[in-house]
Amino acid sequence: MNQTLVMCSPEGFAVNYEINPWMKQQIGHVASALAIHQWQMFFDQLSALTAISVMPASPAWPDLVFTANAGLPLPGEKKIILSNFRHPQRQGETAINRAWFETLGWECIDLPATTVFEGAGDALFDAEDRLWLGAGLRSNENTMHSISQHIATPIHRLALIDPRFYHLDTCFCPLPGGSALYLPESFDDASRSLLARYFGSGLIALTPAEGEMFCANAVCLKQVIFMNQATQRLREELDRLGFMIQEAPLAEFMKAGGSAKCLTLSLGKMECD
Ligand code: ARG
Repeated sequence: MNQTLVMCSPEGFAVNYEINPWMKQQIGHVASALAIHQWQMFFDQLSALTAISVMPASPAWPDLVFTANAGLPLPGEKKIILSNFRHPQRQGETAINRAWFETLGWECIDLPATTVFEGAGDALFDAEDRLWLGAGLRSNENTMHSISQHIATPIHRLALIDPRFYHLDTCFCPLPGGSALYLPESFDDASRSLLARYFGSGLIALTPAEGEMFCANAVCLKQVIFMNQATQRLREELDRLGFMIQEAPLAEFMKAGGSAKCLTLSLGKMECD
């Protein structure tokens, strides 16, 4: 089955404020032409394998390029739960996302104003349709309940404890076939045990260095896993499971704390072939 991805044109991307540790000392330091080039190369790599819809940039909202945070599309339906961003610096993105999805004929679901939720950046379905929710950094005590009103499959909460890995998609990546990449140090003990229980020997731990390269922030299409940068060790480990890594260098976007997965939003089911 083919999934469609949403990406946002990178023209408006910049680091103009600090809302995560990666953005420290990066204000004004994005090389725009290089960022556009890196985005285009990544777009071309993905387009060889899937359809991509491109949303226009909105320069007043430099993090809009990270479409994973637009919302959470509901599997099999033309409906999306829109994000309620934690930081005011991103809150204006919701209206832009709403307008774009409505134009495409999608139904937009609003969460209560008291719920913090940052979309597919913090909510990942695995191969068995379980939803994993990141908790603690870009969510609040209402998130689990609000999301559960719209999802029929089981939902599990994973507590994030390292501010550098502030969205679940920066430290966890479920893969087709039932395996998953994760960065152990970014979760509390209970969450690590939960992951071990559900994924068993399919749970692949990243080293701290791989975590910092954003190896978990990956997009998997047809057994190809796209990530900012990889190590030989990880290539070999994923090769044994039948996956091939393709690097997509996204250093300019790392200055904002985002890379491959953050730049995409999947509208379809996970690839299993
Ligand atoms: N600067 C953005 C933020 O801190 C980066 C978002 C990255 N997105 C993601 N899905 N991890 O919100």
